[in-house]
Amino acid sequence: MGKTSRDKRDIYYRLAKENKWRARSAFKLMQIDDEFQILKGVTRAVDLCAAPGSWSQVLSKRLYEEDEKAKIVAIDLQPMAPIPGVIQLQGDITSVETANQVIEHFSGEKADIVICDGAPDVTGIHSLDEFMQAELILAAFNITSHVLKNGGNFLAKIFRSRNSSLLYAQMKRYFKQVYLAKPRSSRQSSCEAFVLCLDYSPPEGFVPTMNKTSLEIKDNVTADVIDGFVTCGDLSGWDSEKSYPLDIECSFPRGTLDEDDKKRYEFKDVVQPPTDPAYKEALEKKKTGVFSKMNADMNKEMKAAIKREKKHREMTAEAAEKESSEKGPEKEAEKEAEDVADALENKAKIEE
Ligand SMILES: C[S@@+](CC[C@H](N)C(=O)[O-])C[C@H]1O[C@@H](n2cnc3c(N)ncnc32)[C@H](O)[C@@H]1O
Repeated sequence: MGKTSRDKRDIYYRLAKENKWRARSAFKLMQIDDEFQILKGVTRAVDLCAAPGSWSQVLSKRLYEEDEKAKIVAIDLQPMAPIPGVIQLQGDITSVETANQVIEHFSGEKADIVICDGAPDVTGIHSLDEFMQAELILAAFNITSHVLKNGGNFLAKIFRSRNSSLLYAQMKRYFKQVYLAKPRSSRQSSCEAFVLCLDYSPPEGFVPTMNKTSLEIKDNVTADVIDGFVTCGDLSGWDSEKSYPLDIECSFPRGTLDEDDKKRYEFKDVVQPPTDPAYKEALEKKKTGVFSKMNADMNKEMKAAIKREKKHREMTAEAAEKESSEKGPEKEAEKEAEDVADALENKAKIEE
């Protein structure tokens, strides 16, 4: 989360910092939970693709703070700072090893819910991004099929596209109800939504595997399989699409704080900066001045190359000029000879 002007205007980004959530995504999970009560009675939860950890914070607050026996396992490629009551694993959810680690933590017991807010690094190539997101959901489902109890729930982020109905149909094979949820904190302009699959009931004889590369579809399901598209969050509440002035009174959920508790917004730094960001090495190198030296070397090299190119062009132009001036008298003599030949030919024609 950076200090761009867009972030400053984004009310959920600001509220996240006000309320010490590591990311604005926390509001998405809370709004979905407020609508569907998916965390009610949960004692075992898995958070896939969890870093920096705002969904795990919600789990910690709504499950662990209520009952210290609650078991929460969070996994991500990136490391995460600790959260009370959350067991953290660093790994790739598409790999069998990570899946096995999660499964081990639930030995003998099954999870009540699996949530996945995973997003691959976006390439900008829409079809590729869509494909990678679908792969991530499939990997999440493969893990889910091992650890989720019958009757449990699965929540996963999707990017809606023309192929989404295929995913809903696939999920409908394993869950009794499938909803599409769009929390108010998820920008309306974004194709992001959350597929909420309730009541896990795999078909008879289904054997969970990590090697599934696609899910089967029930013969009798059509594209219209979702049980509902539900917007979550107070519609008179904060609008993720709107820009609010910087000096508003912030409270969350809106209107729930007493008049005395209302605070004026002031810009705060991020709650949980990435623990091991990809750009860390670059920042360290920057401190050593290595980039300035590389820059200076590159500038020197570029200047020399420009100079070489300029010199080459001057030499080529000079040579061309010299050649044309040397060829000048020769060409005149050739032309004269041609003129004489033409005149003689004309004369011969007339005499004939
Ligand atoms: C939008 S962030 C999740 C935010 C998180 N739910 C929160 O509330 O803080 C998406 C995460 O997916 C993770 N991710 C992407 N591909 C993954 C994979 N194959 N295995 C594990 N994590 C993955 C990324 O590292 C990133 O941290």
